[in-house]
Amino acid sequence: MREALRIEPLAARCGAEIHGVDIAGCVDETLLRRLREALARFGVIVLRGQVLSPEQHLAFAERWGPVNVNRFFPRVPGHPSIAEVRKEPDDERNIGNDWHTDHSYDQVPALGSMLLAREVPHSGGDTLFASMYAACDDLSDGLRETLKRLRAVHSSRHVFGAEAARDDPATRFANPELATQDAVHPVLIRHPDSGRAALYVNPVFTVRFDGWSVEESRGLLDYLYAQGARAEHQCRVRWQPDTLAIWDNRATWHRAPNDYPGQRRVMHRITLEGVALPGI
Ligand code: SIN
Repeated sequence: MREALRIEPLAARCGAEIHGVDIAGCVDETLLRRLREALARFGVIVLRGQVLSPEQHLAFAERWGPVNVNRFFPRVPGHPSIAEVRKEPDDERNIGNDWHTDHSYDQVPALGSMLLAREVPHSGGDTLFASMYAACDDLSDGLRETLKRLRAVHSSRHVFGAEAARDDPATRFANPELATQDAVHPVLIRHPDSGRAALYVNPVFTVRFDGWSVEESRGLLDYLYAQGARAEHQCRVRWQPDTLAIWDNRATWHRAPNDYPGQRRVMHRITLEGVALPGI
């Protein structure tokens, strides 16, 4: 008999581990709805012990909606819809070391990702998440009123584009010629599923406020980044092989600290299409 669904928060304001789910076994519509609700509420949900083939991983992802194939990440051989997040023992750099929200440079940013741990280091290699609901809730009424009227420009060029590739010849990213996207989104968004307000700027892809210069934007953006990354907004996911984490890009940031030198870490990531983001 299947274990009853049990939701255990990972931290006060972000993340939950969900017990009693067997993706390879049976996920009916009721369970899928409860997982969607938990994702919108906690921002990241963690399911342990999910022994999945790439085909099963993809089939589960497709039940949430269309898959968004990342243009820059290496692909899992034979599975073009699955991105590979790999660090080899002799690689100096990893992917995603700084706080970010995937795909915020797209006109219609991705909903989120499903990251499945294939091989994890003996120590280190965790992923940190931060709640952008909490970051928004903690702003003063005055600053929130100001931010309500602002939009921000997000770009992929400086991360995945030709110059970035030239500066980092060992990069694992591909297709620098496709890094031409800039997108403008509200600084405070209304989450499409939960209806909650969330902060939607991030240190990696946001370049300035719309209509402001980079220099003018820097001070306020840095203030918001410091707010977003406050310890009480965060949770930590410690990986084991076959752990699946699903995160919502509209409700969280994440970062993967590069703290496991000399060890391999291999993760399979499937990213889900999102919807245009409304302001609050
Ligand atoms: C990512 O930023 O998508 C990768 C996160 C991770 O490797 O933990």
